[in-house]
Amino acid sequence: MKIIIGSDHAGFDLKEEIKAFLETELGHEVEDVGVFNKDSADYPVMAQKVAGAITEEKFPFGILICGTGIGMSIAANRYKGVRAALCHNILTARLSRQHNDANILAMGGRIIGVSLAQEMVREFLTTSFEGGRHKRRIDQID
Ligand code: RB5
Repeated sequence: MKIIIGSDHAGFDLKEEIKAFLETELGHEVEDVGVFNKDSADYPVMAQKVAGAITEEKFPFGILICGTGIGMSIAANRYKGVRAALCHNILTARLSRQHNDANILAMGGRIIGVSLAQEMVREFLTTSFEGGRHKRRIDQID
């Protein structure tokens, strides 16, 4: 799979870890929209790049990381067809796929550790949407 990923400065370290994990452990291709260093950066810029690509259906899934994941998830959810889920553990990552058909995983680089984030990413990318009543509810959002 090809996954698009982005962060601001506060999410940079975790983005680098997740990018390596995606490529070496999970065998995915990664499109990294930045940032590429820890200079102060505005998260809506990277949210736009990732969410815009999801809107255009260029990638099946995206990952966005800022300090808390809050700004990224708020910004990404402004884009049509985007369902960005701010998750903090494996259960929310799993349920965001099963119940919400989330297509962007948002995480907080200042909130969660690397190992947890890696397992959340694994769970997010391997869990299927359950459809049924959940599909009806997603359709109601749009
Ligand atoms: C940057 O200091 C921080 O505000 C940002 O990374 C993010 O957490 C915003 O939601």
